[in-house]
Amino acid sequence: MKVACRCAVVTTAGMIRIAIVGTGGMAGHHAGLFSKIAGCKVIAGCDVDEAKVKAFCVKHSIASSYTDIDLMLKQSEIDAVVNATPDRFHASLSIKAIKAGKHVLCEKPLALNYAEAMTMVEAAKSKGVINLVNFSYRNAAVIHHAHKLIAAGKLGHIVHVDASYLQSWLAQNSWGDWRLPQWAWRLSTKHGSAGALGDIGIHLVDFASYAVGDIKAVNAHLKVFKHIKGEKHGEYDLDANDTALMQVEFANGALGMMHVTRWATGHLNTIELLVCGTKGALRINLDRSYDKLEVSMGKDLAAGKWKEVVCPKTPSNAVRFIKAIKTGVNAQPDFQTGAKAQNVLDACFASHAEGKWATV
Ligand SMILES: NC(=O)c1ccc[n+]([C@@H]2O[C@H](COP(=O)([O-])OP(=O)(O)OC[C@H]3O[C@@H](n4cnc5c(N)ncnc54)[C@H](O)[C@@H]3O)[C@@H](O)[C@H]2O)c1
Repeated sequence: MKVACRCAVVTTAGMIRIAIVGTGGMAGHHAGLFSKIAGCKVIAGCDVDEAKVKAFCVKHSIASSYTDIDLMLKQSEIDAVVNATPDRFHASLSIKAIKAGKHVLCEKPLALNYAEAMTMVEAAKSKGVINLVNFSYRNAAVIHHAHKLIAAGKLGHIVHVDASYLQSWLAQNSWGDWRLPQWAWRLSTKHGSAGALGDIGIHLVDFASYAVGDIKAVNAHLKVFKHIKGEKHGEYDLDANDTALMQVEFANGALGMMHVTRWATGHLNTIELLVCGTKGALRINLDRSYDKLEVSMGKDLAAGKWKEVVCPKTPSNAVRFIKAIKTGVNAQPDFQTGAKAQNVLDACFASHAEGKWATV
């Protein structure tokens, strides 16, 4: 049976067949998620590392493994590709998949910069395929509820925003030694890393912007703290920022402080957001909860008291991706949203280089 589809690619209402490209850490997460969603099946894995892709396919009971994406796109009966390769391969591999008519869920950051991200937006638009970027903290019910509360004016005019994303894997090895290849490429610009800003700053930019609105100007300061003598580890030059501080101004006039680092001892992967408006405030801490946030409003304001709010459940990006393919109506966060966040990052790099505010 065919479904009504606004896309050029018409998909069947049957099983959505998925290929995961780049079978490292994040791929396991995707395989787990899609295995729990009705109406889809991961049927192929692809990685340049043959041993890795074979082991991945065996572990997740995936029928076919490839080391060549071109061959996979030619041979395999797939409808959709999940691109979980390192950042520098996002644009080229996603565009290959799009040109072959496949829907794409691409890992963040969508690309290396805004211009590259826009080539992906244009490619997806011209082929009419479903396109999502995996800003995975959109899976948290709290951010959707924050978005709704702010859009409905419950906090009044937004004035002040405080957002942080704190990791510590350079200071201690709870995720394994940072010298391992799966971490080391994230420290090296020649391996396509935009540092902590590109890796976790992009999440924070999307998280805060989704709640508060677009960012129109930034004043950023980036830093690379000392890792090892010579700042070189094998093929990796350890030159990508590992800490970024950003002052931001939102289009609605609110001012914000945002900061990310891989040196926040005592924090493994902590995202916090505080939004203060003229009528109230909300705060989120994803370590504490993905589905409960706190608000201070009305009589509680004068006492500085906060109440917990349980937020309505929200579908994951993976669920939204499959639904979008089935209905033919694209979902959020799409490639255009990914490109918008990238534009903020480009402005941060420009601001840091020039030592002054940069408009987005
Ligand atoms: N959304 C999130 O919260 C989140 C979390 C972690 C990582 N990520 C993103 O996911 C992506 C992958 O990260 P990871 O931690 O899984 O990295 P990883 O290094 O563990 O895995 C990447 C895999 O891609 C393979 N690869 C490299 N080049 C390839 C190519 N040209 N074709 C096919 N395979 C190729 C590597 O061999 C490796 O197996 C990155 O872009 C990262 O930013 C997102």
